[in-house]
Amino acid sequence: MTTVQTSELAINGGQPVSKEPILIHKPSINEADIQAVAEAMRSTFVSGDGPACREFEKRLAEYLGVKYALFLNSCTTALDLAFMIKDFPAGSEVIVPNFTYTSTALGPILNNLKIVLADVRPDNGNLDVEKLESYITPKTVAILPVDYAGNPAEMDEINAIARKYGLYIVQDSAQSIGSKYKGFYTGNQAHVSTFSFHGTKNMTTGEGGAIVTNDDHLADLIKVMREKGTDKYSFLTDNVTRGYYEYVNKGNSYVQSNLNGALGVTQIARLEEMNAVRREIAAFYLKALSGLPGLDFLQITEGAEHNWHLFGLLVPADKKYWIMDALRAEGVMANVHYTPLHRNKYYKDLGTDADFPGSMEFFNRLLRIPIYPTLTVEEREKVAEGVIKVFSNL
Ligand SMILES: Cc1ncc(COP(=O)(O)O)c(C=O)c1O
Repeated sequence: MTTVQTSELAINGGQPVSKEPILIHKPSINEADIQAVAEAMRSTFVSGDGPACREFEKRLAEYLGVKYALFLNSCTTALDLAFMIKDFPAGSEVIVPNFTYTSTALGPILNNLKIVLADVRPDNGNLDVEKLESYITPKTVAILPVDYAGNPAEMDEINAIARKYGLYIVQDSAQSIGSKYKGFYTGNQAHVSTFSFHGTKNMTTGEGGAIVTNDDHLADLIKVMREKGTDKYSFLTDNVTRGYYEYVNKGNSYVQSNLNGALGVTQIARLEEMNAVRREIAAFYLKALSGLPGLDFLQITEGAEHNWHLFGLLVPADKKYWIMDALRAEGVMANVHYTPLHRNKYYKDLGTDADFPGSMEFFNRLLRIPIYPTLTVEEREKVAEGVIKVFSNL
């Protein structure tokens, strides 16, 4: 059990809660994962879109309950493809939350579209649906909600607005594999959704991503465009006797190696189990840390089941970096996340702090603490102890 600690903080020369740093992220890799990759290597099928990739795609689509799940080399390329498959006129506008990773914005940008940054909720970092309509102009063609921390965006409200204006919805679910919204896994609430299997995510293929959809036409375009604009997919799948494949469209090289596909197959088999441990840890933190003066938790979207990709704390803005340093000195590798897009060099002309009050408040208060399936019970308790100790000395 965690007890309130008023002993001297490690940042002031006291004993740290943990001598070994407790890392913020760690993938869960077991012997079955290693074995599967070794077997894929021995098969010598190491290049893209191999049998293990197809098997992973089948299992991913079944798991999510979607018609098509197409495995890619990242979520960044999935976001690029999500717009490559549409022929929006150059300069059309796409609404992107200001608090996100650069990849969300790069999807439209790489396809000659203009991004319009939208403010997010100060209590969870997701698109602020109350403000959403104010960003729509006659040039708007799409909205790109993000499921920050794995907590699904408010898709009912976003879809209602999209229907009203006839807009395309791409949901950036990079962080939300295994989360549900109104009873369905994320991946089911948009025209297309994108996932990441980067090493920090709830399941990993090393690097990797997927694009999912229920739309036959969009899926056909994705199969071609991820494979350099060729029809190699159908050639491999149902036209093996033709003996060649054609260059039928533009595209890029976004298929994923069979080695990564093999890892996907074993990882998705354990996803529910891994997410259950994350839920257990989140429940422990919510209980152990509740009531600490100055500390709030992120608001979970109504109707959502969280995959607890990240565990965020909202701390007093004026003490955030001191709290982070103090936690790190205690051996708890707390971290910050996403500098709002407009504060980055590449996006600096797209607004000022005053344009994004929700985003700035969220950014100024957010700190993340470790959460992952291999975090031991002892480590979780040390994390909570570290937070309580630091907050007791604020
Ligand atoms: C919201 C969001 N979108 C996209 C990405 C990019 O994912 P990937 O590293 O698979 O390209 C990330 C990465 O963490 C992310 O957090």
